[in-house]
Amino acid sequence: MKMSKKVESLLKELTLDEKIAMIHGGALFATSGVERLGIPPLVTSDGPMGVRLEFEPNEWKPVGHSDDFITYLPCNSALAATWNRELARESGKVLGEEARGRGKDVILAPGINIKRSPLCGRNFEYFSEDPYLTQELCVPFIQGVQSADVATCVKHFAANNQETDRLTVDVDVEKDVLHEIYLKAFKAAVQEGDSYTIMGAYNKLYGRHCCHSDYLLDDVLRKDWGYDGVVISDWGGVHDTIEAANTSLDIEMSVFSNFDEYIMANPLKEKVQNGEVPESAIDEKVVRILNLMEKLHMLGGERKRGCYNTPAHREAALNVARESVVLLKNENQVLPLDINKLGKVLVVGENADVCHAFGGGSAELKVLYETTPLLGLKSHIGGNNQVIYTPGYCRDLDGVNPVDWRNIESEDVDKNWQESSLEGGGGSTMKEEQVDAMLAQRRVQLREEAVALAKECDTVIYVGGLNHFYDCEGSDRANMKLPYDQDVLIQELLAVKPDMVVVMMAGSQVEMTEWIEQAQAVVWTWYAGTEGGNALAEVLLGDVNPSGKMPDTMYKTHTDCSAHAIGEFKGGEKVTYKEGRFVGYRYNDKFDVAPLFPFGHGLSYTSFAYDDLQVNREQGVISCLVKNTGAVDGAETIQVYRSEPQTKDSLVKELAGFEKVFLKAGEEQKVTIAVENMTEDSNILVGASAGDIRLGIKGNG
Ligand code: BGC
Repeated sequence: MKMSKKVESLLKELTLDEKIAMIHGGALFATSGVERLGIPPLVTSDGPMGVRLEFEPNEWKPVGHSDDFITYLPCNSALAATWNRELARESGKVLGEEARGRGKDVILAPGINIKRSPLCGRNFEYFSEDPYLTQELCVPFIQGVQSADVATCVKHFAANNQETDRLTVDVDVEKDVLHEIYLKAFKAAVQEGDSYTIMGAYNKLYGRHCCHSDYLLDDVLRKDWGYDGVVISDWGGVHDTIEAANTSLDIEMSVFSNFDEYIMANPLKEKVQNGEVPESAIDEKVVRILNLMEKLHMLGGERKRGCYNTPAHREAALNVARESVVLLKNENQVLPLDINKLGKVLVVGENADVCHAFGGGSAELKVLYETTPLLGLKSHIGGNNQVIYTPGYCRDLDGVNPVDWRNIESEDVDKNWQESSLEGGGGSTMKEEQVDAMLAQRRVQLREEAVALAKECDTVIYVGGLNHFYDCEGSDRANMKLPYDQDVLIQELLAVKPDMVVVMMAGSQVEMTEWIEQAQAVVWTWYAGTEGGNALAEVLLGDVNPSGKMPDTMYKTHTDCSAHAIGEFKGGEKVTYKEGRFVGYRYNDKFDVAPLFPFGHGLSYTSFAYDDLQVNREQGVISCLVKNTGAVDGAETIQVYRSEPQTKDSLVKELAGFEKVFLKAGEEQKVTIAVENMTEDSNILVGASAGDIRLGIKGNG
């Protein structure tokens, strides 16, 4: 194994007890160091949208001080909707600096699992249904984080595509599909992104738990991909001492505080002492950990300091949020709203007035502030217009109240959800909402109030969608329906205000079929960070021209998604990915299932014309002319899809390149785009979405 002189001499000095202490959790988020040799503990933290709050070392109790508020970054799905590699790098850099600023060595992010079903509770933490888009954005994100002397921990390796029975479910998927769809971004993350660490998933693959799967960790990760970084288990993902010792897992973490009883603690030590496991197996793990510490300058040398909650970080969060907003529909040019013609404004919908950052599972955050849509709109519209708010619907009788971490004392939180997250198979499918009579009555009352107010107002903006009771670790949704009777509410509001702007805020797809025809203007936004409300207001008022594109297919209903139509998505022992490679738009294309909005869809306040496609197969690039043909400046993401000569099992097309360009009104640019795996036979399709192909050239096949 490769190691420096320093690591070599440290290894010689370390006792078995010290080595064992380094390879498992000695606190909920840290390993133990070896003070006498100057080896510090390895300190980790969640998560993908910002650095998680500080817990007591041995208990899931927030420390409760005022020094761990952070910048809340737009979730990974939002970042994917920007289709902007530079923003991904910037976002990663902010996360890295904040993690370092909070004294962390490893940030447990990004989540790069493929969104196989719209119902997966953790979709908001992931980028896309498409492996190429995920790869292209996670690589610069990782490089951004690691530029701050903090390691990323890409997760969850691998095939962790549902929360239902996530600790026990055994995934079966054809090997070539596994690599093509589910492992592609992980390979890029470690090879191109050079992610210093990777997290094993909870689930099983081919009968073995991923955290000690010899196929995944030894054959694929170490041998085929040549990975020499550190493999960390998901929290409580290790189940077998011998397997854990003999595979390439390096660190065991868990949710309990009986650290000495962890599988890679005393039980492993005993097996080394009685000769069942060679000490050299432990040494390999220790060397990889020491190598990581060297890369992060933890064993000497100059290490970057980091910083958190800076104005620059908030500005970066705003830039990402701006480009993540997707304009789904805009008939009669309802949008942008003219600030001088707003009249009396009504904002309807609980999501307009709710902070989301504190929820979602391990992605929860303690943020300094979160700009809600209502706050963003009011602060942009200013005092000359009357802006009134009414919830229109409610989650429960108390509404969804943002947690104010300032008021939480550690005694208030007896047992964090995470401590019990390993009970009963660790994950469930949500039951359909049970509504009692009082709640049903309250919703009717809120709806009537909203409709009455809408009649009196000149401009109506609806902000609904999901929240982290739905987009949440540990459970999957039962279907894509909007909760809390929102479909009825939206229809009744549209009946009195046909030009109402409908804003959907969620981390994964929702059904819109009941009112989409009726609605003229529909905007999609996400858990969009500290500045999300401001970004949304800027888009609605036309200060920012929307340029987001959906990173997923917007199905009409969940059974239009292959995992449900022809595959399996369920609890129990085994889930077979019968749909094979036909995931996301790959299925809709092949089986002719029309989506509500195609993958890559997103409109602008301007329009773009495409022309003059040139393909250079030797260099693997294409070029075309793109012109902003409208009256305002804007950005377009030019998407390149590749298709191969058709056979029964081949894809109709797959994303193989994209570039986002900013064009002034009237400006034309020649755009050159690298295309992955282009051959002489590849047909090339260029367009504004998977459903809006503008140019094409056939291959020789
Ligand atoms: C999650 C991981 C997370 C870990 C630590 C687990 O429940 O699956 O994504 O990083 O907890 O909080």
